Amino acid sequence: MFSFNRDSKRCIIPCIALVGSLCISYTLSYKPVVLIHGIFDKPYSLDSLMDRIGEKHPGTKVTILDKFHGWKSMAPVWFQVKSFKKLLIPIMEENPGGINVIGFSQGGLVARALIQSTNKHNVHTFISLSSPQYGQYGDDFLRIFFPGYVKETAWRFFYSKAGQMTSVGNYWRDPRHLDSFLNYSHFLPEVNNEVTTSNTIKFKKNFLKLQRLVLIGGPDDGVISPWQSSHFGAFDENEQVIPMQNSRIYKNDSFGLRTLDKLCKIVTITIPGIHHLDWHKNVSVIDDYIIPYLD
Ligand SMILES: *[C@@H]1O[C@H](CO)[C@@H](O)[C@H](O)[C@H]1NC(C)=O
Ligand SMILES: *[C@@H]1O[C@H](CO)[C@@H](O)[C@H](O)[C@H]1NC(C)=O
Ligand SMILES: *[C@@H]1O[C@H](CO)[C@@H](O)[C@H](O)[C@H]1NC(C)=O
Repeated sequence: MFSFNRDSKRCIIPCIALVGSLCISYTLSYKPVVLIHGIFDKPYSLDSLMDRIGEKHPGTKVTILDKFHGWKSMAPVWFQVKSFKKLLIPIMEENPGGINVIGFSQGGLVARALIQSTNKHNVHTFISLSSPQYGQYGDDFLRIFFPGYVKETAWRFFYSKAGQMTSVGNYWRDPRHLDSFLNYSHFLPEVNNEVTTSNTIKFKKNFLKLQRLVLIGGPDDGVISPWQSSHFGAFDENEQVIPMQNSRIYKNDSFGLRTLDKLCKIVTITIPGIHHLDWHKNVSVIDDYIIPYLD
């Protein structure tokens, strides 16, 4: 039903117990979990995920960062990151033993930026749940959020001052206009260290403090495009997908992806049959692919 990344055989982690093919490791208490929502969510959108974590791991402190719901989720990503950070820092400080973070959809990009821009972060595991980690480029998505736009020409708006005032513009990655993407997009090229900024060194250093990065996505998502962006894949100019390991950001190790991968700290999970709006609600996704990484 699902597959791990090709390197997973090389990355065998010692198991305390094997149940079927699942590696179970025991822990005395669970790290607190912080959830970051996606675009156009409601304040209660992640409640089912929160409740399920509480059922399977009783006693876990789960916090949903309660900001930027509905239309407000279209605010520029850096603006959101700055504001979310004020909620996240106290949680980190109250839990010196570390926390785990789950970001859903756009929330996974917000989460990555929070991690990379916070020097003293103590995020142990970051679970990116169907997030466009290497950008978004597709008509299905536009039809929902920007009716009237088509992917071929949307860059004219997104790579403008007005377009950059929207979160989507910040991670729209048009594979035929990468020059403009690099020049005008004020978010994704920066966290990817594809452009050099005063934060380049810090972004990589902080990313490398992660103990585990879990990338979850699947071919039936229907919104994230290409769906492999959830695994740091991206379109080339012919809209063929370049897998993470062949991408420039990986080969250059621009913000630490290759290093983290070589250290066996990246888990890539592909699950078919899940639509974008079901990732955080489907109980088997939560039980089989999220809970095992929350220890
Ligand atoms: C991007 O910026 C570079 C350097 O300033 C410039 O030479 C190039 O023409 C720009 N490209 C686009 C598409 O704006
Ligand atoms: C990767 O490194 C090469 C060679 O140093 C450079 O030309 C290219 O711009 C870099 N790419 C990224 C995405 O940083
Ligand atoms: C959850 O996803 C699986 C596919 O992995 C599917 O078979 C199952 O019906 C889904 N469950 C619900 C409640 O939608």
